[in-house]
Amino acid sequence: MKEPEPQTAAGKVLWHFSMSLDGFVAGPGHSMDWMTGFTGRDGLVEEYVATTGAILGGRDGWDAFPDAATVYGGLWHGPMFVLTHHPEDAGQADGVTFLNVDVAEALRMALEAADGKNVEVLSPTIGRQLLERGLIDEIDIHLAPVLLGDGIRLYDNPGGAPIPLTLVNGGGRVEVDLRYRPVRGG
Ligand SMILES: NC(=O)c1ccc[n+]([C@@H]2O[C@H](COP(=O)([O-])OP(=O)(O)OC[C@H]3O[C@@H](n4cnc5c(N)ncnc54)[C@H](OP(=O)(O)O)[C@@H]3O)[C@@H](O)[C@H]2O)c1
Repeated sequence: MKEPEPQTAAGKVLWHFSMSLDGFVAGPGHSMDWMTGFTGRDGLVEEYVATTGAILGGRDGWDAFPDAATVYGGLWHGPMFVLTHHPEDAGQADGVTFLNVDVAEALRMALEAADGKNVEVLSPTIGRQLLERGLIDEIDIHLAPVLLGDGIRLYDNPGGAPIPLTLVNGGGRVEVDLRYRPVRGG
């Protein structure tokens, strides 16, 4: 397996998350306090800040963190689209559009706003809906060295069929070998 090439701004639709080893992108109650105590690759945040043109998210994620200025630690600024069945009680926020439209239409609007850069889908539920429509180009995961055991899964689809994936950074349909140890007293 090779290191992934740096992300490019190419009008792609990315389902992009830091994820625990056991597949959670948020803890119980949308908690994100598990995302500390480990490091990411140098330059990773800057890479996504530079290549992301718009963000598409869901109402629960917004309600948990209702501040567009916190995206990428405040380094990213751009149009955000938040899907909700009741935009009328969402309030107002600069640069944020609350929508009650078909998920594909929301994506179309986000791609237009992204103006050739990528759209990041920062929602497990919306990512699943777009995946079902064949509208996700890449699933970008940063695998965090932690087990959560509870929370919000990247992909929750009980009874659904497996989704085969191919590894972009070499090898195709291969397993990835990882070897972890529990941190004693951690
Ligand atoms: N680990 C990471 O890197 C990372 C990054 C970003 C976010 N997150 C986390 O991801 C979690 C996101 O939560 P989530 O996926 O459970 O919820 P979510 O997608 O943020 O919100 C779900 C809600 O979005 C609305 N929605 C979804 N699809 C819709 C559609 N087709 N039409 C209209 N409205 C629609 C509905 O809201 P209504 O009920 O209003 O209709 C639905 O209840 C948050 O905890 C956030 O912190 C993690």
